Amino acid sequence: MRKIRLGVNIDHVGTIRNARGGSHPDPVAAAALALEAGADGVTLHLREDRRHIREDDLQRLAASIRAPINLEMAATAEMVAIALAARPHAVCLVPERREEVTTEGGLDAAGSRKTLEPVIARLSDAGIRVSLFIDPDESQVRAAAEMKAPVVELHTGRYAGTDGQSRRAELDRLVRAAATTRTYNIECHAGHGLTFENVSDVAAIPEVVELNIGHFLIGEAIFIGLRASISEMRQRIAATAARALLSRL
Ligand code: PXP
Repeated sequence: MRKIRLGVNIDHVGTIRNARGGSHPDPVAAAALALEAGADGVTLHLREDRRHIREDDLQRLAASIRAPINLEMAATAEMVAIALAARPHAVCLVPERREEVTTEGGLDAAGSRKTLEPVIARLSDAGIRVSLFIDPDESQVRAAAEMKAPVVELHTGRYAGTDGQSRRAELDRLVRAAATTRTYNIECHAGHGLTFENVSDVAAIPEVVELNIGHFLIGEAIFIGLRASISEMRQRIAATAARALLSRL
């Protein structure tokens, strides 16, 4: 049976810590707990303004866990230098605007070739697996493939932020973009805005092998605890994979 990996994004543990300064709650301690609770990897976004994760979080995390670390970052010289020093398992290149609340859209892979291509090459040469966070458009998947990115992460934010007919349409876009990753032999991840309620339809897309989820899991932890929040998400993802297998028998 296909096992979808779950990357838990710990950014918002940093958000709460930074609201008061100091060191509590510690995102690195949350990462260890997330792995115990069934996460396959840890995702963190080091933003230019350091609003949640700080460089020392990345360094402490790299020194303390063996599980894969997925560093989300902008394709800037500063961030490339940090990634090359920290050597995470993976880097997910994301667009970043200082004034945005969260990563609002995917990269314009096709239109940013001059910036992205050397960064992808540099990180790949250092043995880091590079993914591009893109909107679910076939042209973006093609552009990622042309730049030799081995992975794309499809932005599920629009799907997650809508309902009814338009959610169906957004899901169709995700399904079509995911199918294109097969054509170009690119690994397909997905993430942003995923919750207990909307994760199943994304987990059911056959090409998706990894989901990165943060805000909902950390928010839900307020009510049921981080361990329970992660293990419930794990179970929902596994149940979807099992249903997909049965439907093919
Ligand atoms: N994937 C990427 C590339 C992201 O930028 C984010 C948000 O940091 C996520 C996944 C997780 O999104 P959310 O926090 O909404 O689950």
